[in-house]
Amino acid sequence: MSKCHSSRPANVLSLKQQKQSGSRISMVTCYDAWSAKILNESPVDSILVGDSLAVVMHGFESTVHATVEMMTLHTAAVARGAPNKFIVADMPFLTCSRGIDAAMDAVQSLMQAGANAIKIEGADHQLPIIRQIVEAGVPVMGHLGLTPQSIHNLGGHRVQGKDEASTKKILEDARKLEDAGCFAIVLECVPNKLGDCLTRSVSVPTIGIGAGPHTDGQVLVLHDMLGTDPGFSPKFLRRYANVHDIVSDALNRYHNDVTERAFPALEETYG
Ligand code: KIV
Repeated sequence: MSKCHSSRPANVLSLKQQKQSGSRISMVTCYDAWSAKILNESPVDSILVGDSLAVVMHGFESTVHATVEMMTLHTAAVARGAPNKFIVADMPFLTCSRGIDAAMDAVQSLMQAGANAIKIEGADHQLPIIRQIVEAGVPVMGHLGLTPQSIHNLGGHRVQGKDEASTKKILEDARKLEDAGCFAIVLECVPNKLGDCLTRSVSVPTIGIGAGPHTDGQVLVLHDMLGTDPGFSPKFLRRYANVHDIVSDALNRYHNDVTERAFPALEETYG
């Protein structure tokens, strides 16, 4: 069997067809070329170059620290590693609040780096910008519920849509995003019931993270699902590997081999 599952990359139309046919969409984050190469050989439908890279790759406290330059460099690395995948890149903090010119500059940078679409958090002042980006021919993915770029306003990483008013707002925002031309919507950290209701009330695919089993697809941060940080275990996360322990063990064994002069062996040298 061929290693490559990705001869026909997903696109905005195939993702919509997946919603219509009930075939679930898989998405994971990716920030660099080596993991993009592995993803390129996997059956995963699409890749998100999330602004979570500011936290995961650069050690910042929040995604507020992601910049256009950072996002562009990582998007280019991912695009080189995964030429057969549908790649969505996050518009970083405040790019949509600084007016259409700043937004378009960021879109141009991300698309020319190799993104196939961009993702924008929120549905307030962002709506006219989203319309213009879509009219310019660039697919836009929306993002509702917990929007990490606004954590200071939300009072931290909290489940959203727990009361009637915020549920209503999230549902209305989803319809506005659909109306503005978004091809899909990420829904983060909301109760299952809202994930279900929202998914049934829009015709575009919903991709959930902590939004229950009823969204059209799921997205996870690759490093989280691989278990790189044992201290990070939100309720919605399922770990598929324990990379932290695998890497620690490899480093311990390597160190021991070096200090005990067991590495390199003769056959690992040039004679
Ligand atoms: O930046 C990111 O990783 C995201 C996902 C959590 C959806 O936006």
